[in-house]
Amino acid sequence: MYSDQVMDHFMNPRNVGEIENPDGVGEVGNAKCGDIMKVFLKIENDIIVDVKFKTFGCGAAIATSSMSTEMIKGKSVDEALALTNKAVAEALGGLPPVKMHCSVLAEHAIKAAIEDYKKKHNK
Ligand code: FES
Repeated sequence: MYSDQVMDHFMNPRNVGEIENPDGVGEVGNAKCGDIMKVFLKIENDIIVDVKFKTFGCGAAIATSSMSTEMIKGKSVDEALALTNKAVAEALGGLPPVKMHCSVLAEHAIKAAIEDYKKKHNK
């Protein structure tokens, strides 16, 4: 049912944790299941130099959280804003259709964290 990449990112999630004094924080809940993801960003000159997350959710939510944080690390905030849940799911070798809603959590949490950053820095 799950690809090897999904299993890998679920069993060994990258970037789990918190960042002290983050430049942006985003927390969202999934309306479908009530699961929660929180993202912390460290940003220098509009480049995401570090990212950590905490996800209270299912395996697909954890795998997409892990993969999406890997995909935005080192990218500009505008590139990170353009990341879609579909691109994350594709990078993971696909998700079962009933689990696609889980991947929305990561996309929305990253967008919320960048919005928080932009608000705090008057951008
Ligand atoms: Fe809630 Fe997957 S079931 S995020």
